[in-house]
Amino acid sequence: MNDILSSNRQNGVYYTPELTAKYMVEKSLTYLSILDQNNMVDTKVLRILDPCYGDGIFILELLKQAKISKFKLAITGIDIQENTQPQGICSDIILIKTDFLEYESKKKFNLIICNPPYKSKRQSKYIKEKRKYIEKNYGKIAVLNLYVAFTIKATRLLDENGILCFILQDNFLTKRRYLEFRKFLLQHFIFKDVILPPQNLFHGTNADVKTVILILQKRNKNANMDQTHHNFNSVDRLQHQEDYWQYGSRRFKINQSLFNNTPDLKFFIGHPIFAIEFIIDLYNNNIKIGDIYGGGTGISTGNDKYFLKKMTNSPGNGWIRFYRNPGGKQYYYLPKEWIESDVDKSHSQSRNYIIRNREFFYKEGITCSSMGVEFSACYMESNSLFGINPTLFHENHDMLLYLLGFLNTKLATYILRGFINRSNMVTASYIKGLPFIMNNNKFIEVVSLVTRIIKGLQSDLNYNYNELSDNLDKIFYEIYGVTDEIKNEIEYFTDNIRSKI
Ligand SMILES: C[S@@+](CC[C@H](N)C(=O)[O-])C[C@H]1O[C@@H](n2cnc3c(N)ncnc32)[C@H](O)[C@@H]1O
Repeated sequence: MNDILSSNRQNGVYYTPELTAKYMVEKSLTYLSILDQNNMVDTKVLRILDPCYGDGIFILELLKQAKISKFKLAITGIDIQENTQPQGICSDIILIKTDFLEYESKKKFNLIICNPPYKSKRQSKYIKEKRKYIEKNYGKIAVLNLYVAFTIKATRLLDENGILCFILQDNFLTKRRYLEFRKFLLQHFIFKDVILPPQNLFHGTNADVKTVILILQKRNKNANMDQTHHNFNSVDRLQHQEDYWQYGSRRFKINQSLFNNTPDLKFFIGHPIFAIEFIIDLYNNNIKIGDIYGGGTGISTGNDKYFLKKMTNSPGNGWIRFYRNPGGKQYYYLPKEWIESDVDKSHSQSRNYIIRNREFFYKEGITCSSMGVEFSACYMESNSLFGINPTLFHENHDMLLYLLGFLNTKLATYILRGFINRSNMVTASYIKGLPFIMNNNKFIEVVSLVTRIIKGLQSDLNYNYNELSDNLDKIFYEIYGVTDEIKNEIEYFTDNIRSKI
C-alpha cells in the first residue's frame, strides 16, 4: 500500500501507521455490525467520516475492509490541506477541503474515525488565532488542544449509538487540566475499547508522542443510564502493533463508572480492577503529603550559564550547592552545581532570575525528580538552594527521612507514574497530592534504615543499599495495606516501567 500513500508520510508528518489504522477500522466495523444485529444502527449503508484524512490511510483501509464487510459504506473525508488527495481512490467518496471545525452538516454519521492533530494552545498558531471562535462554538475546554475540539465537534456529528474511533495523544488520561474533557467523554459515550498502543508508534516520523486509541459509542439519550453497566476493554501499553490482535493477559474488563471515583476523574487504563480500587481507596481515606509537608519549586535563574558554576568543590565564599532533578538517583547525592547564596543580589541583576517559595531557602529538604521516566527523591542538605523541580520540607528531620523512605519505594513510583501522572513531567502538586500514611510503630525503623542508606552514600557514592531499600519497600507495603496481588502488579510495573508508561 506504501506506494499509493502520499510522500508526506515519508516526510515525517505523523500519519497513522497502517497496522494501527487497519485495527481501528476492523474494530469499529465489528462494533457497528453488533449494533446492526441489535437494530441499533438504522441503515445498511454506513455513513462514515474521517474529519482530517491526511493521505487517506483510514479511507483506504475502509475501502479494503468494505469488500469483506456486509455493509455498504458512504465515506466523507475532510482535510484543511490542499495537497492531501488519497491516491488510488476512485469510488464514490466525498472529499471536502475545509476546516473541520467550521464544517456544517445536517447529515449525521454512524462512524467517525481519525487521527486528529495534537496541538496544545501553546503549540498551535491556529488555536491562538481562532481562540474566540473555538471557545464560542465548542466551549472553553476545546482550546486546550486541537484534538479536544475535534472530539467535541465529532460528538455532535455522530448519530446516537454511533462509534467514535480516535487515536489521541494520551496526556488527557491523567493530566489535571484535562479533567473537563474526561468528564465530557464519560458523559457522552459508552466506552468500548481504550487501548495503549506501542510507545514507538510515531518514532519513525520524528514525533515522539505517546498515544491512546479510543473506541467509544455515543450514548442514546432515550435509553436509560444503564448503558454504562457493561464492561469495556482497558488494554495496557502494547509492545508491537501486531499485539492488537493478541492482547494477552494485559487486557482488563473495566466498568467505566469506576472512573467517576478516581481522583480528578483520571482514566486509569491498563490496570486490573483490584489495583484501581486500591488506588481509589488510598486517595479517599488518607491525608496527602501536602497536608504535612511544605515546599514546591525554587529558583529559576533564567541564565544557568551565568548564575551557576559547575565544579566539584565550592567556587568560594558565598557560593552554596544548587539542587535540581536528582536524575534517577535515590536517597542522597551531591550536586556539582553551585549558586550564590545572595539571591536578592542575583535577582537585581536579571529580571529573569525568578524566586519562589523563599521561606524554605537554606533549609534541609527533599529534592524530587521532575523529568524522566523513573521517579526518585534525595536528601537535600541545609544551606543549599533548589531549582524548579519539586522540593519538599519539614521542620522535623526524622519526618523528612520518613517521607524520603516512602518516596523511593516501588509503591510511590507505581502510584505516581502508573496512575496519577503518565507523562514524564512530574510537578510538585502531583507529589504533594500523594496519599500519606504515618505509622508510629514503623517510624523509627524507617528513619533508621534511611539514615543508614544516607550515611552509606555519604561515605561512598557507590554504596550498595539494595537490601535496605528492599526492606523499606516491604515496610511501606505493610503500612499502605498492599496485598500480594497488588504487590505483583507493582513489581510488574516498576520492572517494566520504561515500556509501560
Ligand atoms: C496527524 S495528521 C493525521 C492524518 C490522517 N488522519 C492519518 O491518521 O494518517 C492530521 C491531519 O489533520 C489535518 N488538519 C489539521 N487541522 C485541521 C482542521 N482544522 N480541519 C481539518 N483537517 C485538519 C492536517 O492537514 C493533517 O492532514
